[in-house]
Amino acid sequence: MGMNPSEIKTQEELIKAFEETKKQLLQSWKLAELGMMAGSIIHELNQPLFGIKSFAQLILEDLREDSPIRRQVELILKQSIVMEKIMGRILEFSRRPKGEFQPVNINQPIEAALELMSPRLKGSNISIEKSLDPALPKVMGDSNQLQQVSVNLIDNARDAIDGVKKGIIGVKTSSINEGKNIEILIYDNGCGIPPVDSKRVFEPFYSTKEAEKGTGLGLFISREIINGHSGRIEIIEEDARVPEPRTVFRIVLPACY
Ligand SMILES: Nc1ncnc2c1ncn2[C@@H]1O[C@H](COP(=O)(O)OP(=O)(O)OP(=O)(O)O)[C@@H](O)[C@H]1O
Ligand SMILES: [Mg+2]
Repeated sequence: MGMNPSEIKTQEELIKAFEETKKQLLQSWKLAELGMMAGSIIHELNQPLFGIKSFAQLILEDLREDSPIRRQVELILKQSIVMEKIMGRILEFSRRPKGEFQPVNINQPIEAALELMSPRLKGSNISIEKSLDPALPKVMGDSNQLQQVSVNLIDNARDAIDGVKKGIIGVKTSSINEGKNIEILIYDNGCGIPPVDSKRVFEPFYSTKEAEKGTGLGLFISREIINGHSGRIEIIEEDARVPEPRTVFRIVLPACY
């Protein structure tokens, strides 16, 4: 944080404070520039990548089942799909609209995320526990970004319950701290996160999934978005309100009126 004006005594300190502020401004400007640049580079890379992917696909169709180069061409296709996923994520992130904050009822982007995910959430071995407080105070935010966070977390929960006999994915919203904050819990009874990894999961490109399945950017982007909303996202150990969970993600956001 910057210096408190009352603490500044000498001219030397004043210059230091000025330099510090300048550095911070430059840093945020650089980040914005970098985001824009990343966006345009990725845009340019999309065409050649599409070419590589399509031609690999065409070659595969022409190859005999027992062709000795089949495996190599399959690898080209697989790797180009990995690139496509990573680029898509970075593009999503760099295109985040800024300053479109309005009062949002958080239940709405959550419902939209569940709707969007519904094809992946169907199945007799999956049950969705939805408990959205109808009398929730609003938050100042960007509904699209908040929906993106919900999709990321629900997507992770869905991956985690793969292979679980009776998979549970839960979404719960409530008003806490006398209405000063709203809380979102997204939980599942899937494979769980070993305690040693619970910090690392927010790092960019940290993923335990196969390369074509996960980029490791989902939680990193989600945390950036929640930080941008003056909130916090964390993994909590246990919560009496959540029956039999393995992994509970908790988001706390400031309420607005
Ligand atoms: N609900 C969960 N249960 C178990 N592990 C999880 C859960 N959510 C996240 N993880 C772990 O955290 C890692 C990082 O998650 P993150 O969403 O950032 O990336 P990803 O899911 O691997 O890739 P992407 O989101 O791009 O598809 C995952 O690979 C997984 O190991
Ligand atoms: Mg993910």
